[in-house]
Amino acid sequence: MDKLVIEGGIKLKGTAKVSGSKNSALPILAATLLTDEACIIRNVPNLRDTLTMLKILRTLGKSVEFDKGVVTIIQSRESGFTADYKLVSTMRASFCVLGPLLGKLKKAKVSLPGGCIIGVRPVDLHLKGFKALGADISVESGYVIATARKLKGAHMYLGGIYGSSVLATDNVVMAAVLAPGKTVIESAACEPEVADLTNFLIKMGARIKGVGTPILEIEGVEKLHGVEYSIIPDRIETGTFLVAGLITGGDIVIKDGYYQHLGAVIDKLQEAGAYIERFDNSLRIKSKSKLHPVNVTTLPYPGFPTDMQAQMMSLMCITKGISVITEKIYPDRFMHVAELNRMGAYIQREGPHAIVEGVKSLSGAPVMASDLRASACLVLAGLVAKGVTSVSRIYHLERGYEGLESKLQKLGAKIWREKEKI
Ligand code: UD1
Repeated sequence: MDKLVIEGGIKLKGTAKVSGSKNSALPILAATLLTDEACIIRNVPNLRDTLTMLKILRTLGKSVEFDKGVVTIIQSRESGFTADYKLVSTMRASFCVLGPLLGKLKKAKVSLPGGCIIGVRPVDLHLKGFKALGADISVESGYVIATARKLKGAHMYLGGIYGSSVLATDNVVMAAVLAPGKTVIESAACEPEVADLTNFLIKMGARIKGVGTPILEIEGVEKLHGVEYSIIPDRIETGTFLVAGLITGGDIVIKDGYYQHLGAVIDKLQEAGAYIERFDNSLRIKSKSKLHPVNVTTLPYPGFPTDMQAQMMSLMCITKGISVITEKIYPDRFMHVAELNRMGAYIQREGPHAIVEGVKSLSGAPVMASDLRASACLVLAGLVAKGVTSVSRIYHLERGYEGLESKLQKLGAKIWREKEKI
């Protein structure tokens, strides 16, 4: 197992290029199950999670090639309809093969993903949507079995106690595109990754109105065809680089980052004292003055993304004053608090709130990553800490950031990989 070692204190300078969005790529790759024709998907990030999705597609009858960000998928044998526990348990997003399998084959058997470190993460909204479309759902030996003689368009509300659900929207849209009649999904998730999936489906021949809005209207079609498509840039990676630029007092340009997808993050970083310039397909960030504390509440898009909460907390740790960070999507997503405190931060947790009292500086320490975004927050803290930080369990980081360490090295950071002694 590898760990990342960081010698903090260097102001980052230069240009970083953002990879394709992981959270777009996963459902879009799953959506290729809706056709027997070939699909070519570009700008796919080379990550543990995308590789897992490609493995699942292979088990379901696809032949897959992945070369320099381009995935070519063709039907190589009869479609399977079972997604195995071993693969689904390593990545929750694998559950979104259920929608396309049900839509195309009218049957699917997909392992329940189970909980994870950031919370319980139920799938009730996914199942509610499938049932509304006419599927029979049962849970047997840890698997969801969904069958239907035929699906039929339906009107449904998919909001849950924490608002809309990204993967439930993706999953149900993928089941509905081939269902005869009209489907209306109210309280659909509006995240840019959901819009990317719906644009991909439209290119395949699906009829969907309301892309990017909370009401999606789908008119079922008989068949979808193969397409070529390019994934949008990863807004969370872009946001992570924005924080990296600001936390180190640097001056960096982020290429291929869409500011249009990051309104809430840019707003908070500006409030915290960042100077941000927006260009067509890139962003520049540098620090303007001293940092100011900000309060942040995570919300569904276009609100502040939960996937940027941990990174923002790193920034607030070294910002004089008190910042309150409230997590409204995953109230338990605070595993990074204890690790940041080990580096000298002063953070108190009160239910879904973290109260951060900024300290003058953090000090490097051995810390442990608990999940994907928590790992990123520890790397950010390490970039600004005095001394050496080592972040272990970086396989979490490899699930969602393509070449983070080489991209940071290019910006001047002293960061390298070492084998972990067990
Ligand atoms: C996706 C993202 C993840 C991000 C999250 C929230 C992917 C691959 N992952 O995860 O990075 O952190 O959106 O923006 O795109 N919920 C229910 N019932 C359900 C489904 C969800 O109650 O059936 C709850 C969840 O527990 C959570 C909230 O709804 O509290 C939002 O979760 P959801 O949008 O579904 O997250 P994911 O789609 O799994």
